This record gives sequence, C-alpha cells and structure tokens, in this order.
Amino acid sequence: MSCIDLKHISLEPKQIVKDVYWVGVNDCVKDLFESLWPIPSGISYNAYVVEGSEGAAVIDGVDRHLTYEYIEKIREVVGDLDRVKYVVINHLEPDHHASTPALLSLARNARIVISPVGAKIIQSLYQVPRDRIVEVLDGGVLNLGGKTLKFIFTPWIHWPETMMTYLEEEGVLFSCDAFGSYGALAGGIFDDEVDLEYYLEEARRYFSNIVLKYSRNVSEAISKIEKLGLKISVIAPSHGPIYRRHIDKIFSLYRDLYQPKLRVKASIIYGSMYGRTEEIVERVAEALRKKDVTVELIDAARVHPSYVLHYVVDSGAIVFIYPTYDAAVFPPVLDIANYLHIKQVGRGRVAAVLNTSSWGPAIREIVDLLNKSGFQVLDAVSIKAIPTPEDEKRIEELIEKLAMELKKLT
Ligand SMILES: Cc1cc2nc3c(=O)[nH]c(=O)nc-3n(C[C@H](O)[C@H](O)[C@H](O)COP(=O)(O)O)c2cc1C
Ligand SMILES: [Fe+2]
Ligand SMILES: [Fe+2]
Repeated sequence: MSCIDLKHISLEPKQIVKDVYWVGVNDCVKDLFESLWPIPSGISYNAYVVEGSEGAAVIDGVDRHLTYEYIEKIREVVGDLDRVKYVVINHLEPDHHASTPALLSLARNARIVISPVGAKIIQSLYQVPRDRIVEVLDGGVLNLGGKTLKFIFTPWIHWPETMMTYLEEEGVLFSCDAFGSYGALAGGIFDDEVDLEYYLEEARRYFSNIVLKYSRNVSEAISKIEKLGLKISVIAPSHGPIYRRHIDKIFSLYRDLYQPKLRVKASIIYGSMYGRTEEIVERVAEALRKKDVTVELIDAARVHPSYVLHYVVDSGAIVFIYPTYDAAVFPPVLDIANYLHIKQVGRGRVAAVLNTSSWGPAIREIVDLLNKSGFQVLDAVSIKAIPTPEDEKRIEELIEKLAMELKKLT
C-alpha cells in the first residue's frame, strides 16, 4: 500500500503521556530516504512537545518541506509560540532539524539545546547566534518546572553528536534514530494502534540501512541506558511508532540486530545476463541445501541494495556469483559489494566469489572490497561460462569450504 493510500498524511497532535505531545509529520512525498533507500509507505518524522509549568520544550524537528505542518502542530499544543523555551536537537541530520531555523524565527524565546559536538557541527549547516544555543553535558538536566529532561549521549547513532533525551517524571525516552522504522504512521502513533509486525520488519530494514555500521555504538548505548537504570515506560523514536505496550519487542529486535546470531545461511548474490551463470547459481544452491545450509538467492540486478542489506544481516556466508562484464565485475553485484563495504557488514562472516567469463576474469576489485568489509574471503575463483572439468572441481571445493565454515557457527 502506498503512503498516500494510508490516508493518515495529516494526523493531529496527540498526547502521549501527561503534558507530552506528538507533533510529528508523515512524509509521503519522498520516494527514497536519504535519496538511497526506498520508502514505499513513506516515513514519519516524529517530534514532541513537553509542557512544564515554566515553559515548553520541543524535542526534535522534521524535514524542511514539512516545516509548516510541524510548526502549526506545535502552535496548537502550546498556544503561543513564545512559550517555547527550548528546542532539543538530539541529532543534526536534516530529517530532524531542517525545520529549526523557521521555528526559531517564530518562537522568539526559544534556544537550541544540543551536545557540544552538535554545537560545532550546527554552524556548518546554518548560522545560529551563539546566544541561542545551550550546550548540555552527558547526564545533564534541564528543568521545565515539574518536568525534568535528562540528556544521554549516544554518539554515532548515527552521527557523532547524537544524544537521547529522557523525561524523568514520565519515563519517556526520546531515542531519536534508535528504534526507528520506515513507514508513515497509519492508524495511529502507538505500537498498539498500528500493524506492529509491519513496522518491526521496517525497523529491521531501517536498522540495516542506516544504523548497522554503528552496531557497536548501539550496543554501548543500550548498555549505558540499562546501567543508568532508567525506568522506561515509553520509547518515543524519531521515526515510526511510539512504543508503550511492546517495548520488549523493539528491544529484543535490536539485540538480534546489533549482536546478530548468524545463521547457517548463505546468501547468494548473483547476476546473469544470458542464463549460464544462473545455471551455476542453481547448482551451488542445491549442493549447499543438501549440506543443510539455508540458501537465499538474491538477483543483484533486481533486488534493491536496501533489501539486500535487510536480508543478509543474519547470514553467516555471502557468495557472489556473476559474469565478467566489459572486463569488470557485473555492475549490480559490485554495487552490492560496495554497500556491504560501506556498511561494514563482513565482520564475523565468510564470503566466496565465483566469476564466470569467456575470455578474462574479473575478481580483484570485489575481493578488495570484501576484505575491507571485514569478511574472511574463503575462495575467489574464475571459471568458464560452461565449466571445464577443472572448473567443476573448483566449484565443489568452494562449496565444501563454505559448508564447513558455516557449520562452525553452530
Ligand atoms: C555485454 C557483455 C560483456 C561481456 N564482457 C566480458 C569480458 O569483458 N570478459 C569476459 O571474459 N567475458 C565477457 N562477457 C562474457 C560473459 O562474461 C560470459 O559469457 C558469462 O560468463 C555468461 O554469463 P551469463 O550467461 O550468465 O550472462 C561479456 C558478456 C556480455 C553479454
Ligand atoms: Fe540520522
Ligand atoms: Fe532520522
């Protein structure tokens, strides 16, 4: 279902707990998040207002083209924008703060609350007068009158300046990109109002596209939160549903993702122009299945890298099978290897490369990328499009090595 069909493009501001309101927006205009990742059902940018007796704080912002709707929602909650004392920026990616200059020009008493690293970066994005910035420290608090905001630095989720904000009285954790999901909010804003299975699946894809590279930082952030012993009754991320009933589900999904329990599974990422290579792919897949390996076939020319990352996140092995194309690695396969490199997917996993050609192999470029991704490259062989008897032997050896290494995972 497309984002527009959801008919929830313009949800009203909603109270999430006492004195805390969702003032986020749904983006049904963008086709690709970060101009890279397909969002067939859109995405939400969640922002919040916390009302204290001495003023209000806005937590996070939205992307620029939805600024008007965001500000109108804030106005509806606070009445007079002059009551806004603070605009907390947990993370400076423009999906969470491109709306800030407009808000600051209308909310004349508001000051940005940000980490010191964020305060440096913000000047590279737009000029903010120094006296409109409040730098906070890790563990620091801000009192709004009966409402206390505590700041927890969580660097690299997913930029260096990132922090989370915790509302002590109500136990709300504003977690920014962590625990976020693709998909505009449809049917409501809470985990118990929406089709949660859909959003959890999209949270997994969001993680593998956006946060995966920073898995260690996610793990550190979650341990930090646990050590602080915060009583969390609501997790309010910056994308996707707000968790109040199923906090355990999103936590356990995250545990599975940042410390993936790799399965005895081989993802075969392949390309084939005229079918010869595909025949080999099918044979390799069949042989691996016979050795009790789960096989996932991914046609690199037809599956978007966003979904490839999503699928391979629990694979113990990744196998690349492709023809040489104009003296190079078949481009869609190389493209995926490049994404795996950028996202550093290789750690703890094995890889194998099987190239088919008619007159010249194409291997080095992809093996370099896989090594840099952290894979242990078990084998990289080039064979003829119609394999010779020696080629057959090489294929068999490759399958043996793969199955053996995968078994070590169990
Ligand atoms: C457009 C195109 C470019 C190719 N470039 C090369 C090449 O540079 N070197 C080479 O050895 N083979 C090249 N080939 C041959 C293929 O790599 C070979 O036939 C392939 O292994 C067959 O795989 P397929 O049937 O799965 O497409 C090319 C084939 C095509 C169609
Ligand atoms: Fe981000
Ligand atoms: Fe984001």
